[in-house]
Parts: sequence; structure tokens; C-alpha cells
Amino acid sequence: MQLDKVVVGIPREIMPGEKRVAAIPDTVGKMVSSGARVLVQSGAGKGAYIDDEMYREKGAEIIADAKSVYDEANIILKVKEPRMNEETGLHEAEMFRENCILISFLHPAHSVNHEGLRIMAKRGITSFTLDGIPRISRAQQMDSLTSMSTVAGYKAVIFAANHLGRFIPMMPTSFGIINPAQFLVVGTGVAGLQSIATAKRLGAKVKTLDIRPEANEQARSLGAENIAFDVPEELAIGEGGYAKRLPEEWFAREREALLPHVEQSDAVILTALIPGEVAPKLIDENMVKKMKKGSVIVDIAVDQGGNCTLTRCGEEFVFEGITISGIMNVPATLPVDATNMFAQSTYNFFAYIIKDGSVNTDSTDEIVHSTMVTHGGQIVHRGTLLAMEME
Ligand code: NAI
Repeated sequence: MQLDKVVVGIPREIMPGEKRVAAIPDTVGKMVSSGARVLVQSGAGKGAYIDDEMYREKGAEIIADAKSVYDEANIILKVKEPRMNEETGLHEAEMFRENCILISFLHPAHSVNHEGLRIMAKRGITSFTLDGIPRISRAQQMDSLTSMSTVAGYKAVIFAANHLGRFIPMMPTSFGIINPAQFLVVGTGVAGLQSIATAKRLGAKVKTLDIRPEANEQARSLGAENIAFDVPEELAIGEGGYAKRLPEEWFAREREALLPHVEQSDAVILTALIPGEVAPKLIDENMVKKMKKGSVIVDIAVDQGGNCTLTRCGEEFVFEGITISGIMNVPATLPVDATNMFAQSTYNFFAYIIKDGSVNTDSTDEIVHSTMVTHGGQIVHRGTLLAMEME
């Protein structure tokens, strides 16, 4: 697919609370020096403290409104999936130029995004989802899912610290020793490992549970104590070494294994996910009722439905003395570093996909295959098509 001239659009994100932006001055400079025109919507970088002037200095054209960006750009770089733009009354998917290229997190298996995908397919838009980047070494520099999980895992512990009514490290005081806080991290993939590292830096004692032996080993190497819960590998591990949904009776056993540790914990950080599916429910109301008053649950699996049955999307509330945090889109709460990492990996993906004004749509390429969602008037992403069949 050949583009006459590469015109990259960087719109201001419209999701409430989204402070990240898809490009930083450095990546704008790289795109401009490779011959592209870069149109940045005025104020797009405000949430990450990047002024229009900083983009302009690197060669960007600052455009007053989203409509003018979308009218001209043939490649859009965005952070979050297209949604209704309340200012214009139009869905973003309807504002993009026909046949343009979109690179963004699209969360395409999620049913709330299916309408937007159908609109994009109909309008001939070729879209790539950043949450589909395969975990292979040559794609590591494009992997924003990993860097955003790092942010989420770190921030989860900061949220917990903020709600706890007690110190986290051991404190020798003139009134005696105050014991360190006990943290429990459930799910120790990228986010969970970062939660362990952050809680350890703050001086907490940390216990963990994951169903993948490799994840347990990594947690131990960070100084955490694994809770004994052995699941046969064929039940726990699926395609590509990722976790699988356990049979229901194993979830019951897992909740049983977790219960005594949940009771003893000051903070429970929930990060367990199954790729492309809703998050497993691992903590129920009865377990929460047994926790110490003043304890905290931070459920960062909330964007995929949450690991605790009581979690409310986007809310923090107190249930019988236990604070339950279901803040969504956690990476947006650390906009400076999250934007820096996101913009760099997005630029690397852009540079891989767009070469000499041509777009790589070769579906035999593993990176293209797992990220391309709409192309040639159709939805082409396997996980999305499966999710749509189940609707
Ligand atoms: P994820 O975000 O999909 O899931 C988080 C964790 O939840 C996983 O460790 C998973 O095993 C765990 N989990 C699922 N069901 C559970 C249950 N019932 N109870 C407890 N825990 C449960 O995982 P993430 O962070 O995407 O990492 C998955 C793997 O991919 C890791 O081994 C990681 O090292 C690897 N990876 C490789 C990369 C590369 O090669 N470029 C980059 C990033 C990750």
C-alpha cells in the first residue's frame, strides 16, 4: 500500500482522564527528518507537560482542532481507541480520512469497541492495535503493552500506600518496632513483578501467587514469597506460554489457597489476566469481609473486568472498612514517563510499518498479522472476529 506523501496526525486524546499523547518532540523530529509532515493538534501534549512550541521546534505544524488534523492526515498516531467526540458529535472513526492508517491501542476484543471497528472497516481504514504486538525479541522496542504494564504495576502500589493508614517499612521508634506492611500480589506478569519491586523498595513484605511456574520463579528472584498453589501445566499454560483460564473447580481451589493470605494482608494488588479474555475472579465478597479493617485492595485488572467481584470500574470506595480501588487506565496517571515510553515504542512501530511511503500489510509477517485489525474494508484480526462471534 503506497501513500503519496506521509502526513502524520497527532490528535489530542478525548477519553476522560487520558493525559498521555502519542508523540513527543523527539519522535516528531524523527518523523519530520524522514520526510513526513507532522500535524499536532494544539494542546495535545498538555497533559504530559509538552507545549505546542516544543513540537513546533521539531518541525511539527500545530493545528487548532481535531477535524482539521483528521481531514489532512493519512496516518494517525493515537493512544486510545476511537470513541465519540462530544465536541463534534461525531465518532472519531467517522472523522478519520477514508483509507487512512491508524496506529493506537484498540482493545479490539472488547465489545464496546466493535462499533468503532465496523465503522473503520467500512471506511477502508487500515488499523493496527498496539496491544497486539507479539512478545518476540525483534518487537521488544515496539511493545507499549509491556511499558504500560510497568507503569500500572508501579502505580498500584503507590495507590495502596496512599490509602493505607500505616507505614509500609519496618520502623524502629521510641515506642517500639512497627512491623512492615504485608502485601499480596496476585498475578506476577510484567505489572505484578513491578508491583513486587515497588513494594519491596518501600520496605513491605510481599507474598505472591501466579499459575505459571516461570512467573513464580521471577517473583522469588525479587524477594517475594510464593504461596503454594500448584496447577498442572496443561491447565495453566496455553499458546505462547501465556496463562489459560482455569477450569472453575481450580478457581475455587485458588480462592481457598489465597484466603488465609488475604486475611493477613494490609494490601492486595490484583493483576491476573488471561490474554484476550475477561479477567478471572479470584477474590470474592466473603474473602474481603475477612480482611483487616483499614486494608486496601487495588484491582488493576479492572480494565478487563477486575479480579475482585466487588471492584467497581473507575471507582475507589470503602466496603466494610476495606478500600477497594478500581481506577481504570492507570498508565494515564503517570503521564510524563508513560508518554515518553509510549511515544518511543509507537514511533518504532510506525518506522517498522511505514517505509518509503509504503505501508506493510503483509499478513505473513508475525508483527503485522497480530496487530492489523481492519484492512481492505474488513475486520481481519482473529481474536476480534472470535469475540464478535460470541456477542
Ligand atoms: P498478563 O498481563 O497477560 O497476565 C498477568 C499475569 O496473570 C500472568 O503472569 C498470568 O500468568 C497471571 N494469571 C493468569 N491467570 C491467573 C490466575 N488464575 N491466578 C494467578 N495469576 C494468573 O501477563 P504479561 O504481563 O503480559 O506477561 C506474560 C508473559 O509474557 C510473562 O512471562 C512475560 O515475561 C512475558 N513477556 C515477554 C516479553 C518479550 O519477550 N518481549 C515482553 C513482555 C512480557
